[in-house]
Amino acid sequence: MRIQPIFLIGYGGVGRALARQIIAARARHAQRCDLRLEIVGIADSRGARIERTGLSDDMLRNLDARKAATGSFDRYDAPAPPALDPFVADDVILVDSTASDVAVPALRRAAQSPQGGAVLANKLPLAGPLAWWDDITGGRARWETTCGSALPVISTLNTLLNSNDEILKIEGSLSGTLAFLSAQLEAGRPFGAAVREARERGYTEPDPRQDLGGRDAARKALILARMLGYRLGMDDVGIEPLYPASMDGLSVDEFLREADALDGPMAARAGELTRGGRKLRYAARIENGRCQVGLAGAEPDSKLGLIRATDSVVVFTTRHFSDNPVSVSGRGAGQEVTASGVLGDIVSLSAR
Ligand SMILES: NC(=O)c1ccc[n+]([C@@H]2O[C@H](COP(=O)([O-])OP(=O)(O)OC[C@H]3O[C@@H](n4cnc5c(N)ncnc54)[C@H](OP(=O)(O)O)[C@@H]3O)[C@@H](O)[C@H]2O)c1
Repeated sequence: MRIQPIFLIGYGGVGRALARQIIAARARHAQRCDLRLEIVGIADSRGARIERTGLSDDMLRNLDARKAATGSFDRYDAPAPPALDPFVADDVILVDSTASDVAVPALRRAAQSPQGGAVLANKLPLAGPLAWWDDITGGRARWETTCGSALPVISTLNTLLNSNDEILKIEGSLSGTLAFLSAQLEAGRPFGAAVREARERGYTEPDPRQDLGGRDAARKALILARMLGYRLGMDDVGIEPLYPASMDGLSVDEFLREADALDGPMAARAGELTRGGRKLRYAARIENGRCQVGLAGAEPDSKLGLIRATDSVVVFTTRHFSDNPVSVSGRGAGQEVTASGVLGDIVSLSAR
């Protein structure tokens, strides 16, 4: 049986779910792929646990329980990234499930290693400078879960590109949080109340401006645009934020209180976009060398208009699929489902 060493950087919701899923999938991987995934290191923000021959399943279960209970490991064998780099061997598949760019040097190296590779759930390295993009995606790398969690968005786009189809346009709704808010606005709910409810339900970051600013949706759009060959950076993406920059200086509580002041303008914008029964979406649009995200009205019977309120969808209009475009839709967020997408990427990258 082939042994594939794995190094996990980031051991939060996605990283921990992934470690559990690797254990749960052992029989399937042995039977289908003659493969054993061996976790040789795990890093969180404080440091790393390392076992060059592989952390045993019992050790992994203990680390999971310990991290859940205390937020840290009982001991650390190496420093946190980027100081961790010398401890990461060339033959590992490095998995980035942090939400920072600390692992970028290690990811660039891993992707260029003929025996190793890089798998990313984290969008930041792929939405950074183009040199990062070129090194990571030009090497041995997978990043399926960066756009729509485990939905096969990236693999569908790769298949279309490999078949030499011409991609004319990509549209998508790629933020569950903004999809929820759009649905509320479309139903006539005041903006401020909808934002507070989304936060109470745990749909937003603790500071909802991180979602409302549109940058997360923009990063996903940028990744798709770069896959089409557009040489763009984040500054080139047109972003419609759902609050004015003048509210950036407020505390979270002040923002949540003062968001009611946006009820009138947001209701007017939603009313204008949903005229004639159109559905309100926070949509990405990639076409003719341009990439943008913002509120849009979608025809109710279109693939963008038909999805359930909090689902994600990406629609590819191509030369071969022009009157009835290819679409991928479904649940586009969640730590367990994202971990399953990362696991699929690891196995695909392990196949020699
Ligand atoms: N959740 C989803 O639905 C979803 C879907 C698609 C993609 N993603 C992406 O997946 C990534 C992880 O998401 P999550 O929900 O698992 O986040 P999370 O629970 O906040 O976990 C983040 C992890 O990164 C670690 N970290 C931060 N700085 C680090 C450093 N310098 N070195 C090593 N580790 C560091 C944190 O360490 P500590 O534990 O010490 O704090 C934590 O373990 C994010 O980039 C997210 O955008 C998530």
